[in-house]
Amino acid sequence: MSTVQNQSTTQQNQLFQNEYGYFTENGREYVITNPRTPRPWSNIISNGDYSFMVSQAGGGASWRGNAGQNRITRLFQDVIKDSWGKFIYLRDRSSGKFWSAAWKPVMAEFEHYEVRHGIGYSVFTQQVDGIRSELTVFVAPDAPLEIMQLKITNNSGQTRELDATTYFEWAPGFAPDEHREFHKIFMNSEYREDLNAIQLEKYLWAFPDEKGRSNNVSWPYTAFHAASEQPSSYDADKESFVGMYGEESRPQAMQDQELAGHTGRFGDAAASLRVAVKLEPGASHTVVFTIGAAEHEKEDAAALIREYTSVEAAERTLARVHEFWSELIDTEEIQTPDPAMNIMTNVWLKYQSISCRLWGKTAYYQVSAGYGFRDQLQDSQIFLTNKPELMRKQILMHASQQFQEGDVLHWWFTIRGGGPRTRCSDDLLWLPFIMDSYLKETQDYQILDEITPFLDGGEATVYEHCKRAIEKSFLRFSPRGVPLMGEHDWNDGLSAIGYDWKGESFWVGEFLYMILGSFAPVAQRRGDQAFADKMIEVQGSLKQTLNEYGWDGEWYLQATTDDGLKVGSKENEEGQIFLNPQIWAVISGVADEERGQQAMASVSKHLLRDYGSLLLYPAYTKVRRDIGYITRYAPGLRENGGVYTHAATWAVWAYTLAGQPEKAYEAYSKICPPNRSDDPNGYVGEPYVTPGNSDGPISPNYGRGGWTWYTGSSQWLQRMATNWILGVRAEHEGLLVDPSIPSEWPEFSYRRNFRGATYLIHVDNAAGVSRGVKSITVDGKEIEGNILPDFQDGKKHEVKVIMG
Ligand code: GLC
Repeated sequence: MSTVQNQSTTQQNQLFQNEYGYFTENGREYVITNPRTPRPWSNIISNGDYSFMVSQAGGGASWRGNAGQNRITRLFQDVIKDSWGKFIYLRDRSSGKFWSAAWKPVMAEFEHYEVRHGIGYSVFTQQVDGIRSELTVFVAPDAPLEIMQLKITNNSGQTRELDATTYFEWAPGFAPDEHREFHKIFMNSEYREDLNAIQLEKYLWAFPDEKGRSNNVSWPYTAFHAASEQPSSYDADKESFVGMYGEESRPQAMQDQELAGHTGRFGDAAASLRVAVKLEPGASHTVVFTIGAAEHEKEDAAALIREYTSVEAAERTLARVHEFWSELIDTEEIQTPDPAMNIMTNVWLKYQSISCRLWGKTAYYQVSAGYGFRDQLQDSQIFLTNKPELMRKQILMHASQQFQEGDVLHWWFTIRGGGPRTRCSDDLLWLPFIMDSYLKETQDYQILDEITPFLDGGEATVYEHCKRAIEKSFLRFSPRGVPLMGEHDWNDGLSAIGYDWKGESFWVGEFLYMILGSFAPVAQRRGDQAFADKMIEVQGSLKQTLNEYGWDGEWYLQATTDDGLKVGSKENEEGQIFLNPQIWAVISGVADEERGQQAMASVSKHLLRDYGSLLLYPAYTKVRRDIGYITRYAPGLRENGGVYTHAATWAVWAYTLAGQPEKAYEAYSKICPPNRSDDPNGYVGEPYVTPGNSDGPISPNYGRGGWTWYTGSSQWLQRMATNWILGVRAEHEGLLVDPSIPSEWPEFSYRRNFRGATYLIHVDNAAGVSRGVKSITVDGKEIEGNILPDFQDGKKHEVKVIMG
């Protein structure tokens, strides 16, 4: 492989550079200069309906709604080969030499290769044999399709006759459709000369029909693949394109002057369009391809193709992509001395939470077809500062996934619904939990009067939904007054521990304690005094029982098993200390000052390691049938003693509440992904998004990141920086300013919306402290205390904070 170095135009502004890439100065793009990254470094691009993922090598797939029930193009999970994609081949028609516009599938020698992953788009720039190609891929913000804009420039000094050939496999509907020979006979492709397009129907979508008859509905979309100019040839059959026993890296189609032109019902559905391009020296030409799926009842494939498949439309749509994302992420901005925190907070964590977690719901390491009851409720907090109405929508959606008894679906399919009725102990409680941050931000108490249905009939106000969740939890206490574990708690992998409703979860106790504290005033406000009193009463007794039975001497226990054995105790050989019960004892207020300090000292001693806070220590090396599947994971991986990033973010919160800003910052910095850029081959994950986990110390790959993108940690890491380190957070009375920063920070600023007004906050720390606010002036006038006035006036307000 020959790489021409230093061709980048932005070299002077490269942040966190390593052998694979760097961030641009404003952090909005991650530029990859070597396609052989240690794992696929991808981008998950979505408009909330149509989505695709794409790696630095050009691998990936597309879907609509969700990637499990409604896939459009084929991909089988494989982070090693990364060999499924929507490819474009480039070929010199005279010499026959061919390569691809992204590195895969041909993996040709190149003179230059660069991928820019941006917010809502990725750009592949390559030069091979004097031919420069720039392929920009994105999803139209307002239509169910993606655009591939290919600009080819002849830098070779000679006239060149080239062609560009697209290729991918269709996989409409449920994925993966393992029984391919079955599925392929339901597909029908057609070439539409008037549209320069291949269209595809599938006469099967694996849902029962209205009478319950199986295999009796058609996939209700027309998929299409179109070109902005007349193709010289086309093909819709994998066999003729790849060739029998062929490979995508050197397909038959690259031997043939023109494509085979096979369409119809009897092939193996794929799509390929070939466009001939003749270029004089120095000349450029742009071709645009689209891929999409039009829903029969609502959209017309031909109209979408015509509207979007042109050079002008691509440019217009790309400009709209920038606008669309700017509206979602630019209303809030921090400037601190920490570039990793700035980049992640201002750009990538918002993007990851929205584009991947809430919308795309899939990434290289996990394909999801649904919403997790607790997961996307938490994620939706990402909308609080700029589009709280989208969080509101998410709350109403989750409320309607509850049964009359108060329990909920653990997750549900986003198409046609349905999912497992949960027997776990915390799911249902996330609804009243999340209400607190929503109400503090918005004061929109009206949401509690919204009526949403129950899954088993009837409907009630959102208030009632929250109340039923809490009441259901009241029925699940052990004889000594500790909440029962049920099938598991937040830690899904504790899947056997309390199956018989005898084992207890001390963490659920803390979580419930906190919720009772925030929800009692809500009940009171609505005049539901009896329920408010009940909550206060249970809260009081919980504090006592959790401290009495949950304290293990130096830290809190995680749980007891159905057989009454302690889990997360110094008496255990493995799994002696768990993170969640320590940090939530502090977050919830279950621990008094002394115990809180002791619990956090134990976290610092046993759990806060090189790459963040371990979920438990030591990892289980022996299978424990009485605990659950975390003990079956390889030791140190994911919930079995790895850094589970989602929970590791909460440690930051607890350290700030425990009055330990330096530790909070340490716990934050260790999991802030750009900070892992110095060891890309050890870490292996993308430096611009959070991983679900990184390996714990017992793993031979200690510190290796995995399950990137699709993780509930992105929203929380964002919140940790703004709410807990910068310390600017919504309280009922107004916006509170209470920083917990490294004392060496001289200053920072933060711009954010709050109830319609914009607050431009500048914090001066010439005093060199890590906590403490000496004075605050708002629009030139000094205020009392550290809660900013609640203007609600749609105007900008200058806030000057002096620490000391
Ligand atoms: C997964 C689940 C999440 C759970 C976590 C810990 O990320 O989606 O709901 O809390 O694992 O087990």
